[in-house]
Amino acid sequence: MTARISPSILSADFANFDSELQRIAAADLIHVDVMDNHFVPNLTFGLPMVQRLQQVTPKPLDVHLMLEDPDRWAPGYAEAGVFSVTFHAEATGDAVGLARKLRDIGSRAGLALKPGTPVADYLEIADEFDQILIMTVEPGFGGQSFMANMMPKLVALREVVDRSGLDIWLQVDGGITEETIVVAAEAGADTFVAGSSVFGAENPTAAIATLRAAAEAHIH
Ligand code: DX5
Ligand code: ZN
Repeated sequence: MTARISPSILSADFANFDSELQRIAAADLIHVDVMDNHFVPNLTFGLPMVQRLQQVTPKPLDVHLMLEDPDRWAPGYAEAGVFSVTFHAEATGDAVGLARKLRDIGSRAGLALKPGTPVADYLEIADEFDQILIMTVEPGFGGQSFMANMMPKLVALREVVDRSGLDIWLQVDGGITEETIVVAAEAGADTFVAGSSVFGAENPTAAIATLRAAAEAHIH
C-alpha cells in the first residue's frame, strides 16, 4: 500500500513560499494549517492565502482548519477548489452536515480529532468522511513531540475502515519523523503530515523519500 506524505507549510519560510514549494516537489499533498488564534493559540493564514496557493501549485492542497467556526468558514475553502478540507470535531455541532456540504461543493471532507477527544463517538459515522485526522500533538504549533498514546484511536479506525471496504484515508499530524512514522503506519495510518522533519531537513526530497520508505515498510 502506498503512503501519502503531506508536508506542512507551517514549517516553511513564510517569506519564500515559491522556493519552499519547489523543495517539496516529491510530496503527494501540501498540508496547509489555517489557525485563527481562538481555536488554537496561534495565528497563521486564511482564505486569500489558500486561494493564491491554489493558483500557483498543481499539488493537491490538504487544508487543516483549526478555527472556531468551521460551519461558517469551511465551505469557502471548498469553493476555492482545494483538494480536501479538514475541520475539527470539537468545533462543530454537526460534523456530518458540514462534511456533506463540503462534498457537495466538490472537495474531500476530513474530520480532525484533538488528542483529548475520544474516537468512540465517531466510529459509527466514519463513512461520512473521506479522511480522518488523528492529532498526535496539541494543535497550534509545529516541532512538538509525537504522542504515541494516540495510536489506539488509529487502530480502532483502521478496523472500522477495513470492515467498511471504503477508501477512507487515516491521517496523522504532529511530531512525524522517520522513527514515529513507523509507529503510526503500524497502527493503521496511511497519510502522514510532516512539518519540521521535512522543511527542517537540508534535503527535503530525501527526507520525503525516507519517510515514505519507512511508512511503506510498515503500512497495512
Ligand atoms: C499543528 C499542525 C501541524 C504541524 C506539524 O497544529 O496541525 O500540521 O505543522 O508540525 P510537525 O511535523 O513539526 O509536528
Ligand atoms: Zn495540521
